[in-house]
Amino acid sequence: MASPRTIEIVKSTVPFLEEHGNQITEIFYQNMFSEHPELLDIFNETNQKLGRQQSALASTVLAAAKHLEKLAVLLPEVTQIAHKHRALQILPEHYPIVGKHILGAIKEVLGDAANDDVINAWAEAYDDIAGVFIHVEEDMYAKAMWSGFATFKVTDKTITGTDIAAFTVEPADTEQAIDLSTMSLSAGQYITVKTDPEDTAHLALRHYSLCSANTDNGIQFAVRRDNRNGHHGLVSNHLHDHVEVGDTILLSAPAGDFVLTPALIEQNEVPLVLISAGVGVTPVLAMLEAQIQANPARPIIWAYACQNSEYHAFAERVDALLSDAQQVEKHCFYFEEGQLLDETWLKALPKPADVYVCGSMAFMDSMIDGLLALKHGEDTVHYEPFGPKMSLKSA
Ligand SMILES: Cc1cc2nc3c(=O)[nH]c(=O)nc-3n(C[C@H](O)[C@H](O)[C@H](O)COP(=O)(O)OP(=O)(O)OC[C@H]3O[C@@H](n4cnc5c(N)ncnc54)[C@H](O)[C@@H]3O)c2cc1C
Ligand code: HEM
Repeated sequence: MASPRTIEIVKSTVPFLEEHGNQITEIFYQNMFSEHPELLDIFNETNQKLGRQQSALASTVLAAAKHLEKLAVLLPEVTQIAHKHRALQILPEHYPIVGKHILGAIKEVLGDAANDDVINAWAEAYDDIAGVFIHVEEDMYAKAMWSGFATFKVTDKTITGTDIAAFTVEPADTEQAIDLSTMSLSAGQYITVKTDPEDTAHLALRHYSLCSANTDNGIQFAVRRDNRNGHHGLVSNHLHDHVEVGDTILLSAPAGDFVLTPALIEQNEVPLVLISAGVGVTPVLAMLEAQIQANPARPIIWAYACQNSEYHAFAERVDALLSDAQQVEKHCFYFEEGQLLDETWLKALPKPADVYVCGSMAFMDSMIDGLLALKHGEDTVHYEPFGPKMSLKSA
């Protein structure tokens, strides 16, 4: 653990560095990518272009530095980030590269104030923070269902709603024998695809939630064609337009801690509330199936929002699943018809309830704010943003 002197030096410089967070981020990425262009195959190019998420890494290092003497308090946050790192195959040898360039950026921003004591203190602090991540990730690598990116073959591709393609894939790896029948996937988790899209010189990695934790037919995930802002999303369009039945695809093993609370699955007092919008239905669809298979008597409230009936994804599958449950409320909101899933609707929810939310950032922010304002406890409101968790104002 860092010495009291190191902690003092680091903490005294954090406020100034946080004020110059954007500059640190800019210098950090610029220098790191020019020295290690291979990392452009790992980092999300669109996020870099749009300046989104870019600040997450550096600002988390600064935020963690404030807790240097008790890094253990950050374990829940570290775990969530570590799941993404493991899914992207970030390895211990990557940490010194990031460390070198974060330190370089800190030195540049501090200017004359960056004497040896300060730089040595930050080097020690980064090593401590990186050590926590590496340790948590080591355990995740050991428990992962397969290693690295394994080859899978597409066995089914079905369009659901207007712009969502549901893929089913089966193991086809020649190096590791992956037997799905021996694996138990967790509803709510995501897999990560590694693609080589036409429109970029780099490889591109993206996460997609499992639509089912059942592996009888293979692994299932669904991808919305993401063409917001008049731009074409790199990977979603590639998967829609260039990946067909019979093709192969690279996937890393399921990751993520957005899963049903195990202790509540078998009981019937606390209802399960599943709230989603658009393609955000994917992880909660898997949860719905898992809950009904494990205990169909638990009360379930299902709420789904989308533009209109044409965009309604997995409508038949949800109805078939709900027909096997014993106590169900189903609510559907088409916002083009003025039906809003908003804070007013949330007021009618029972309390306590175990609530899972997934949808666009704006939708999730409004749901989470609404639920917390209604005094649903933080530990009973679970959510999975389809982007960096830090971009949610509630996070
Ligand atoms: C844990 C997790 C689970 C997820 N699960 C799912 C899932 O189940 N299903 C699903 O469909 N998605 C899911 N996502 C989202 C998914 O990972 C991708 O982010 C999504 O498919 C978009 O990727 P893309 O490469 O197509 O778009 P990107 O190229 O990453 O672009 C993202 C958006 O930015 C826009 N854009 C691109 N360039 C510009 C520009 N220059 N100016 C303005 N806008 C621009 C694009 O049009 C697009 O709307 C999940 C994400 C996470 C983190
Ligand atoms: C202690 C050091 C590190 C910290 C504090 C950190 C923190 C973070 C955070 C907060 C996120 C966003 C998570 C989210 O999406 O919710 C993230 C994502 C990511 N991290 Fe790290 N990280 C560290 C080290 C590394 C290293 C060593 C690498 C690899 C060189 C790396 C690569 C990535 C990538 C590729 C993403 C996804 C973001 C994108 O593609 O734009 N990180 N990290």
